[in-house]
Amino acid sequence: MADNDTNRPDTTQKMSPSATISIGTRQAELPVRSGTIGPDVVDIRKLAQDLGVYSFDPGYGETASCQSSITYIDGDEGVLLHRGYPIDQLAMNASFPEVAYLLLYGELPNAQEYCDFRENLKEHALLHEQIRNFFNGFRRDAHPMAILCGTVGALSAFYHDGIDISNPASRDLSARRLIAKVPTIAAWAYKYSQGEPFVYPNDDYSFSENFLAMMFSRPNTRYRVNPVLARAMDRIFILHADHEQNASTSTVRLVGSTGANPFACIAAGIAALWGPAHGGANEAVLAMLEQIGKRENIPAFIEQVKNRESGVRLMGFGHRVYKNFDPRAKILQQTYHEVVSELKLAHDPMFDLAIELERIAVEDPYFIQRKLYPNVDFYSGLILRALGIPTSMFTVLFAVARTVGWVSQWREMIEEPGQRIGRPRQLYTGAARRDFRPFSNRN
Ligand code: CMC
Repeated sequence: MADNDTNRPDTTQKMSPSATISIGTRQAELPVRSGTIGPDVVDIRKLAQDLGVYSFDPGYGETASCQSSITYIDGDEGVLLHRGYPIDQLAMNASFPEVAYLLLYGELPNAQEYCDFRENLKEHALLHEQIRNFFNGFRRDAHPMAILCGTVGALSAFYHDGIDISNPASRDLSARRLIAKVPTIAAWAYKYSQGEPFVYPNDDYSFSENFLAMMFSRPNTRYRVNPVLARAMDRIFILHADHEQNASTSTVRLVGSTGANPFACIAAGIAALWGPAHGGANEAVLAMLEQIGKRENIPAFIEQVKNRESGVRLMGFGHRVYKNFDPRAKILQQTYHEVVSELKLAHDPMFDLAIELERIAVEDPYFIQRKLYPNVDFYSGLILRALGIPTSMFTVLFAVARTVGWVSQWREMIEEPGQRIGRPRQLYTGAARRDFRPFSNRN
């Protein structure tokens, strides 16, 4: 496997000059570590030992929680690299399973490795028949993210005793099972909501064709997979595959650091992804565009967003890391045009609304000063809508793709020498020690 390839860039940490921190008369020399590219980090692991203090960084905006060789983002330059390859090159030239292999094993597969990987994913795409029964426990109007989260968590009951996360082969098997089975669960969550029969995976299809077929085939009509649409689906999966230490990935790493079952770890990642500040934003963008309705309403909406007391945000805008354009948003804009032209769709007025909203926002000092630009979710919802995917499934598709990133990061975390449980500290602001009082002594 390419995992052991010695031609890979040497990412061994080089030691750089140290940083000196002083508190009063006490001083600590802290090592500064350099990665392959990107800012150095101050290694504060000895901070408490040397100075008796902890660092304070709510939201972890300035904290490197791990070292990783999977994904690199330069938020100021709008750069996203997977194992060194720019996202636009991958999105335009590779298939989703190729990118999955790259993220998992560090190198692009050769033809034989790719073929074996694809066949293996196909073998694992089937679900245990007992899993079907779980769906019946959900209300028909349950949100598909709830079904996905619950059912992926339930997979841990099917794959538990045989799993040994200290064994590389067992980790690899879990990773492949997850990448292969999550799309099937996702498509079945949709079928369940429609009251339609579940469609089993079909080995004749590519990964994305198979997903579309599981979503849209019916026993009474033959579903013809349109290659342009399958390619668009594949590209959307590639663009969402990994994004370094975001909230859901950090969740997977944290849960995984306890030694938990990998299927339970991914269920935790799905829960974290669901929030509107993270993967739920694609669904929220469409709701926002529907609420704005027409161009004339944009200025009033922008004023509402700028009024902090309104609590309204421009969904699909802003990013914790990108303070320039999000490179994924650009590729999605182009993909949208390909899909619309292939389907000969009447131009979606929502798209025009989105373009106009973006134009007004990027020229507005409020957004310029805060470096808020469209992110991946601003356009992904419009393409998914053109593909006939219902809004409630948007975040589910994000989860299908991100499963690849989660399992890659989970594996890397487990394989890190000296890996230990994630356990942040806190700044305690509650009551100091006090004695218990009986009811008779309380006001
Ligand atoms: N609309 C209006 N104001 C915003 C927005 C927005 N979308 N995003 C940030 N701001 C303002 C925020 O009010 C704050 O202003 P001030 O300095 O006056 O208090 C400033 O910009 C910094 O915001 P922040 O909340 O400190 O930034 P953050 O890095 O913590 O949040 C974010 C990042 C993505 C949660 C946020 O930009 C946001 O809520 N965006 C909308 C939701 C969204 O599109 N999420 C998808 C992210 S990309 C996909 C993914 O990774 O899941």
